[in-house]
Amino acid sequence: MPHLPQPGLLWRDVTVFDGLAVLPEPMAVLVEDGRVTGLWPDSAFDPHQAPRATEAGRGGVMTPGLVDCHTHLVFAGQRADEFERRLEGASYAEIAQAGGGIISTVRATRAASEAQLLDQALPRLEALMADGVTTVEIKSGYGLTVADELKMLRVARRLGKEAPVRVVTTLLGAHALPPEFAGNSDGYIDLVCEAMIPAAAEEGLADAVDVFCENIAFTPAQCERVFQAAQRHGLGIKVHAEQLSNQGASALGARYGAMSADHIEWLDEDGVRAMAEAGTVATLLPGAFHTLRETRLPPIELLRKYQVPMALASDANPGTSPICFPTLMLNLACTLFRLTPREALAGMTRHAALALGLPDAGRIAVGSPADLCLWSVQQPAELAYAVQPGRLRQRVFNGVVTHEQ
Ligand code: NIG
Ligand code: FE
Repeated sequence: MPHLPQPGLLWRDVTVFDGLAVLPEPMAVLVEDGRVTGLWPDSAFDPHQAPRATEAGRGGVMTPGLVDCHTHLVFAGQRADEFERRLEGASYAEIAQAGGGIISTVRATRAASEAQLLDQALPRLEALMADGVTTVEIKSGYGLTVADELKMLRVARRLGKEAPVRVVTTLLGAHALPPEFAGNSDGYIDLVCEAMIPAAAEEGLADAVDVFCENIAFTPAQCERVFQAAQRHGLGIKVHAEQLSNQGASALGARYGAMSADHIEWLDEDGVRAMAEAGTVATLLPGAFHTLRETRLPPIELLRKYQVPMALASDANPGTSPICFPTLMLNLACTLFRLTPREALAGMTRHAALALGLPDAGRIAVGSPADLCLWSVQQPAELAYAVQPGRLRQRVFNGVVTHEQ
């Protein structure tokens, strides 16, 4: 079939946040055939530059489509009881050690079919999309058998086919020790390295591999074996690091070329330096910090000093961040971690794309993919300053307007 170019779409007089900064004057933006093909100061725009384009919008703030680079969106059930137990004083670690937490979601997820998981994940994905997400990373990690981890990854891939959104998948087999491996965590890591990773790679179901390196999860030595297996199979590496204690997991991940180290409240200067040298992105997850009422702040000043790119994500999951509201994350990153609105926005666009190994995404530039958001606000900082659903005027995915209000 011949390739039919899509008709061009033109936005006039929009304030553009390009993924790193707010452009100094209102812009005209042209999109053709799934790409941004023109970007001019509106005052200098001559309609002859885009003679066949239709005007799609005028005024407002345009950002790249939001990139949510760390989610656990596919799972069954919910954990409101655990939330109540934490309010009564139990800690996240105590609940996990007593067989609750992640393992309770594992029980529900193992019992669910692919169709049931898809049905439960879809509204969460729609909530992210309704608040501007055009690319989302989805982890497995609630199956913990080869079949159940692959089932989760298949659901994640299907979400990307059924909805207008880019889905990047991550195998998180090393998330928690399943009960059938009690007392044999090395044996479970053998399964992850010798069966899960090869199977996920073989079926093309995972883009990357992640681990939970923590005293309630897996040791640095075990995580290192997982990184080696990921490398053997050509998969990217990510790490849940320094969330509850300093295990040196970020530096370890950096040594293996990790794309990102995520959470990092307990990260120290050596770890920051290692990340800077390796180009590992620091992914901040203020939803988990907020939900667990953490007090230890991630080392924002050190990350700035060493110029480690900071990404920001929802960590949407049933335990530590039951929140599918990406622009709330912009606000939490500013109020809790003292990011500037500009840093927070870069964290959910350009830097989040880097955390996923997608250098073209999360930006507005000539040639970049036309994944865009037009917001009913006057300046980009408003997206972080006010917490308010419903500000997304248009969502453009792959050059097509998929949401309009
Ligand atoms: O990113 N830290 C580990 N994993 C998730 C929580 C998963 C859960 O509690 O279900 C996180 O916070
Ligand atoms: Fe997580």
